[in-house]
Amino acid sequence: MPTIYIPAQKREIAVETGAGLMDALNRGGIFPDAPCGGNGTCGKCKVFVDGAEVLACKTTVDRDITLTLPQTAELRVLHTGIYTHQRLDPLRDGYLLAFDIGTTSVVCFLLDGKTGAELAGASMLNPQTAFGADVISRIRTALRGELAQLSALIRDAMMTLIREVCSKADISPGEIGVISVVGNPAMQQLFLGISPENLSKPPFASVLTEPKVIPATDILPICPNAHLLIVPDIAGFVGADTMGCLLSTGLYAKDEITLLVDIGTNGEMVLGNKNQMIACAAAAGPALEGANIRFGMRAADGAIDHVWLENGEMKCSVIGGGEARGICGSGLIDAVAAGIRLGLLNKRGNIQNEERVMHLGNGIYLTQDDIRQVQLAKGAVCTGILLMVKRMGVEPENIQTVQLAGAFGSYLDPENACRIGLIPEELFSRIEAVGNAAGSGAKMLACDKSMLEFTGVLTEKIEFLELASQPDFSKTFAKAMTFREETR
Ligand code: FES
Repeated sequence: MPTIYIPAQKREIAVETGAGLMDALNRGGIFPDAPCGGNGTCGKCKVFVDGAEVLACKTTVDRDITLTLPQTAELRVLHTGIYTHQRLDPLRDGYLLAFDIGTTSVVCFLLDGKTGAELAGASMLNPQTAFGADVISRIRTALRGELAQLSALIRDAMMTLIREVCSKADISPGEIGVISVVGNPAMQQLFLGISPENLSKPPFASVLTEPKVIPATDILPICPNAHLLIVPDIAGFVGADTMGCLLSTGLYAKDEITLLVDIGTNGEMVLGNKNQMIACAAAAGPALEGANIRFGMRAADGAIDHVWLENGEMKCSVIGGGEARGICGSGLIDAVAAGIRLGLLNKRGNIQNEERVMHLGNGIYLTQDDIRQVQLAKGAVCTGILLMVKRMGVEPENIQTVQLAGAFGSYLDPENACRIGLIPEELFSRIEAVGNAAGSGAKMLACDKSMLEFTGVLTEKIEFLELASQPDFSKTFAKAMTFREETR
């Protein structure tokens, strides 16, 4: 039986002859980055075998090897949102926990059950990223018979975070009385161990349709005394995380028409006010999180996070201040906007130079394929906005506020988001970032039992708009994929 020797961890993993390296590492609790889910197309799962660089997902082990893993940078995760705890009436006594399970990262907050104050927070990369960057690859993995493994991964990660926040606040996990969890439908179902088959085929109906409370102990056994709050999803691809955003932003009670946009590995949006709410999910894909982009990476040290023009030349800032190793979503939007301003990108998104690449410095560049990925993502989000507006019978200029939720929404430059056509231009001056609004909603749910009941009322009230079945979807999408002609 060959062994994989990992000197940096002083570890040996025994594997069957001919086993896949990625599989063997995953079984040993090591999860190289794998945005394409092991298809061999993203090139991000590079490791070194006996000093030679290989793709872990395309390598088999048929002899003893020595393995070196690349250095991983810490992910920039947004914790802050617009959390206020005016009312405190939790379902149970004890400390409170609130989770936001994202496709990319998992955030945990520990709250004082008497005051609602935040005592500690912690976050980590969602370990399921080893099975792909987007929800679709996770759903496929689960349906291939690995649901139990995906469930175990997220539950273990959550328990690690629980231990961390409890140790920071010097309390025991046994003192936790309530745990609220929000996430997109796939993340919620994988966490609960429910097969995501419903999300793999039309009509993509949600199965978590009502608020529920169950003992936490079967799922998160380190919290034997806690009640777990299950928050309903709004639709098959609009989840409890969007519900969390609605609770914390109070969109459902506003007079003015507000657009809530949460762009992660999917674009979930709600348009409306106290009278009417429409939700949709735009298949933005993970490009805006740096996946499927030649030099794309998550927002971590070494990522170009902003690009601007100085005397007609592109300048970049890099997270952590060192040498650029890649580019994350906010940098990507800026770079494309700069390309438009320089006339390097035409209306169709074609790069106007012979090389067909846009150089950003330090060997980092964007390819024509990368630009297409951005066009598809921004086209999907913009189409969602335009079709919701149409369904409501208003015009984009009738939207009084645009609230951008999530890390990406907090770091992107609103002017450039409008310049590339991610958001209709007339809304530029009305854009505001609302931080981790889903996490804030999870905190409110943990603090006040009436909030959980209210999520049931909201699911009934929100109309879900299936974008692809709208008659003018294709026409709107084709138009939304283009860039504007630069006039200045
Ligand atoms: Fe190996 Fe994408 S190339 S996971």
